[in-house]
Amino acid sequence: MKKFVTIASALALMAAMGTAQADGKATYTQSCNACHGSGVAGAPKFGDAAAWKDRIAKGKETLYKHAIEGFKGKTGFMPPKGGWANLTDDQVKAAVDYIIAGSQ
Ligand code: HEC
Repeated sequence: MKKFVTIASALALMAAMGTAQADGKATYTQSCNACHGSGVAGAPKFGDAAAWKDRIAKGKETLYKHAIEGFKGKTGFMPPKGGWANLTDDQVKAAVDYIIAGSQ
């Protein structure tokens, strides 16, 4: 029984950590800001509503897909998951949500 409790609390801790990792802001800061913070290599800059307007108009699902699978557009190349292959799709989606919320 004691062993079960230990495993259960370890699982609860892992679940809590998983939630923290899906935090869009944290993922953005770690994995996306290098390009999107300053607009490196044609990346639309975080907070630049004009740069994001037409992209946001394509719809969230398209932006999720492009962020996860990569996207070659008119201004540059968005690497799949920003080059962070270890990110889950949900983490990338949360980061996209964070960018959208901060850029309109
Ligand atoms: C190595 C630089 C780089 C990194 C790191 C990066 N991006 Fe990008 N991203 C770009 C560039 C460049 C574009 C513009 C591509 C174009 O439209 O020509 C872009 C475009 C996008 C777009 C718009 C796609 C569209 O359809 O218009 C989204 C959404 C996006 N990035 C999300 C992210 C997220 C989320 C992360 C972090 C997980 C991230 N990016 C990390 C360079 C980067």
